Amino acid sequence: MGDNRAIGVIDSGVGGLTVVKEFRNVFPQESIIYLGDNKNVPYGNKTEQEIYELTKNMIDFLIEKDVKLVAVACNTISTIVDKYFSSYNIPVVNIIKPTADYVVRESIKEVGVIATMFTVSTAAYDKLIREQDESVEIVSEGCPTLAGIIDSGSFTDDEVQELVNLHMTNLLSKRNVRDVILGCTHYPIVIDKFIKNNPKINFINPAYEQVMYIDNLLSSKGQKSELEKSEFQIYTTGSKDIYYKMLDILTIEKPDNIIEI
Ligand code: DGL
Repeated sequence: MGDNRAIGVIDSGVGGLTVVKEFRNVFPQESIIYLGDNKNVPYGNKTEQEIYELTKNMIDFLIEKDVKLVAVACNTISTIVDKYFSSYNIPVVNIIKPTADYVVRESIKEVGVIATMFTVSTAAYDKLIREQDESVEIVSEGCPTLAGIIDSGSFTDDEVQELVNLHMTNLLSKRNVRDVILGCTHYPIVIDKFIKNNPKINFINPAYEQVMYIDNLLSSKGQKSELEKSEFQIYTTGSKDIYYKMLDILTIEKPDNIIEI
């Protein structure tokens, strides 16, 4: 027997759509209720307490909608969810652990992490990778402005390229890595700029790993959806206009509704 309730997906803004894209492609029978807190983006420059309070509001909102699981499609939030939300009645699944597992599984021995200031300050990737394989060398670069600029939707290609170039130069000056985790879900939206900066690097998009991890979890609990026609709703604390633009960039099908709350 399956569970046809929706999967909730949260992010500080539009970045979590990179995870939704994988869900819609790989498991289209799963209904999705997305919540983006665009009014308060970026989270990456906030304190732990601020992030916790905003996240609690989002998770409680989705629990009211009767979701069966919450996918935290945000690295910044993921650094704190196990600490605060592991006792909830439904699983609240972070995006960092499945990505750390991928690095270890692929025997990557040197990896770069490019992420928000908060994510880098917690060293969450370092801990989750090195507790499985101590020999992995990890270098990180924090970006204070990139996620916010992407979320505004009003960026020029040149402006984003310049920022990506700056942070990639900083990262590679720490170590000349060949694998780089895009450790903020906003960044795969502009993955073309990363590839343009350095086409030889393997840029790791954590979205796919998280979606596969969740699928395994639902399978093990007999909670996969059996719907023939699933639903896809987006809620935002900001404006819906940016969603139309991002859905287009990411080539995601239009949702049933986009609702401003
Ligand atoms: N998309 C988010 C992440 O993965 C956060 C960006 C932000 O709000 O600073 O970290």
